[in-house]
Amino acid sequence: MKALILAGGFATRLRPLSCTRPKQLFPIVNKPLLDWVIENLERNGVKEIVVAVNYMADALRNYYEKKQTKATIIFSLENRPLGTAGPIKNAEPNLKGKEPFFVINGDILSNMNLRKMKNAHDRIPGPATIALRRVDDASRFGVVDLDEEKYIRRFVEKPKGENRNRLINAGAYILSQEIFDLIPEENRKISIEREIFPILAKEGKLRGYITEGLWMDIGTHPDYLQANFALLKMPGKKNSIGRNVKISPNAKIVEPVAIGDEVVVNEGAKIGPLTVVGDNSEIDEGCSIERSVLFPRCLIESSTSIKEAIIGEGTVIGRRVKIGEQSVIGDHCEILDDVILNKNVKVCPSKEVGENVLESCHIM
Ligand code: GTP
Repeated sequence: MKALILAGGFATRLRPLSCTRPKQLFPIVNKPLLDWVIENLERNGVKEIVVAVNYMADALRNYYEKKQTKATIIFSLENRPLGTAGPIKNAEPNLKGKEPFFVINGDILSNMNLRKMKNAHDRIPGPATIALRRVDDASRFGVVDLDEEKYIRRFVEKPKGENRNRLINAGAYILSQEIFDLIPEENRKISIEREIFPILAKEGKLRGYITEGLWMDIGTHPDYLQANFALLKMPGKKNSIGRNVKISPNAKIVEPVAIGDEVVVNEGAKIGPLTVVGDNSEIDEGCSIERSVLFPRCLIESSTSIKEAIIGEGTVIGRRVKIGEQSVIGDHCEILDDVILNKNVKVCPSKEVGENVLESCHIM
């Protein structure tokens, strides 16, 4: 079976980190999000994967050119943003045949059982089956009304009233070949959720399949941190320490953490809990880092504290710096000695910050 991964969005809610990389190359516990998505497809027997790309397409293509994968990876390039349905039509030459195929949002971290979903789709063939997910709080999502026969009757955007324990679209679909006739051949953004599925639901042709297990939508910085934390906290998972790591015997590692390859942790530093340190980073004496993710090649100089923050690739944080909750520092920034970034400070890539920032703000 084939699959199409939607991987061309601008990821505006993940700026400033998405200014310099596509969302699908954000590391989740030191491995790009798209690797996790591809591995789940491979586990479910997918042999050929089409990755629909637009924003920062070259970064994705370069990464997978050098990488060995079990499934064959093909890229489908768009010449403008096409939304979530346009890329399916654009990839028609790669997906055309007799078989249904999967379409997966490339920003969902999940281990959903797609084989079972495929069996359900095959039992009563139709144009589309949508993976559904029961969530505690559906207020951020559109909810789905599913009838007893497992047909979706309607979608309700941001429903009023009771939002607990409702079903939402989990961002994974099985589509039959007839879908190509339902997506207009127009070179514009077309949303499968808003323009195609509601029509099928009205006609009683749209089926839902409730999935279980890990499922996280990575749209915002808090979602991104939570996805890392969820993998760190997986039952039975131990601290993961990469190759050629040097940790001083006087450093303290508080579980769960993931430390990448070639990392140096110096004397008196405390790392964790719930912390990911990217490859080739160095943490100097007396630093304290908790509930945070550091991208590769960060240098954190002595006595600095970082709490619930995300630090971009190649960033240098000086001595005695304090970085507070919800702060996000772009790639290749430099935060000078003694600076305090109190809370919710977002710093654009390659900026140097030499003064305290005590209020929430964006430093451009
Ligand atoms: P925001 O700008 O922060 O909303 O993020 P986003 O660009 O990722 O948009 P959204 O979360 O709605 O996208 C859902 C999935 O569809 C993601 O995997 C996107 O990469 C993908 N996507 C969105 N727009 C396009 C597009 O025009 N082309 C392709 N190929 N994929 C898209």
